[in-house]
Amino acid sequence: MAELPENIRLSPDGTGVVILDQTQLPRRQVFLTLGTAEEMYQAIRALQVRGAPAIGIFAGYCLYVLAGQLEREGLEGADFFARLDRLGKFLSSARPTAVNLSWAVERMSRRAASMAGAPAADIVRALGEEARAIRREDEEMCLSISRYGLSLLKEGDGVLTHCNAGPLATSRYGTGQGPFHLAAQLGMKLRVYADETRPLLQGARLTAWELQRAGVDVTLICDNMASMVMKQGWIQACMVGCDRVAANGDVANKIGTSAVAILARHYRIPFYVLGPTSTVDLGCPDGDHIPIEERDGEEIRSLWYREPMAPEGVTCYNPAFDVTPHQLITAIVTEKGICRPPYTRSLAALFAAEG
Ligand code: MRU
Repeated sequence: MAELPENIRLSPDGTGVVILDQTQLPRRQVFLTLGTAEEMYQAIRALQVRGAPAIGIFAGYCLYVLAGQLEREGLEGADFFARLDRLGKFLSSARPTAVNLSWAVERMSRRAASMAGAPAADIVRALGEEARAIRREDEEMCLSISRYGLSLLKEGDGVLTHCNAGPLATSRYGTGQGPFHLAAQLGMKLRVYADETRPLLQGARLTAWELQRAGVDVTLICDNMASMVMKQGWIQACMVGCDRVAANGDVANKIGTSAVAILARHYRIPFYVLGPTSTVDLGCPDGDHIPIEERDGEEIRSLWYREPMAPEGVTCYNPAFDVTPHQLITAIVTEKGICRPPYTRSLAALFAAEG
């Protein structure tokens, strides 16, 4: 079982963030060192770094690196904070749906604000600690989510998954696919069916690669084959990650997720959503209030083909996410436990327990 390369880390001198470029996988492992806010923004936009928790971790490291630059420019006090605030807003604007991005930026800003009056060098040091804490906590959360998720499965089960919610999309293990990696580690056999996940093929390029390397029995299917494998009785559960969970339990995740949930209901298969509490947005009442990113139609028209496959200039609609209504979700699995309907109550209870 090959260990996966680290997807996000600081450069040895702390002046850049090194990422494994996910757009090049699985054929090439290319690492990029990003040192400017523009490069960091573009890496998120272009999905070189992607997956809700991963872009939160990335944003934490980016703000640390950028704060270091401000300090080296000699900025202090209000000037330092104004520039840091602008940089945070810029990074947050790169993708709208996954709440982890703005969550991480806000967490970094709060840490900086808690040190108002301190020299910039001390604030930068504190931001470094905070960024590392975000990553460390994500690892702990993913392990806990994976354990809870695995408790819903039994030896030999077939599980259908969509998009990539594994180690590449997080720090380690993953969320929606964390139970599969944990099962492999524990010697438990599962049969995983991975949707290829059009149009950007995160399932084919990333999930299949990760699971194969982990020694998991994985079968790649096209998105429109899910009904077929469910009908044959090969699927005992569906597990997916999430980009934002609204207060009522509606869930935004990769486009196509809601179709899997609808099929699962038809075939009476449990549909589980797995994600950290940093993906739960209690300020968002329901799925209608989740902003859905729309991406360039070229991703459908021509991206994966030697020659463009669709007629030139044809109109494309390319939403990156959809919302699965809470009525179709059997349970939402977080690092703090398994929430069942009614989600308005069970999700709120997770946070109430924090005090
Ligand atoms: O557009 P992407 O590839 O960033 O979309 C990712 C997903 O939809 C994942 O399922 C989600 O972020 C959870 S990742 C643990």
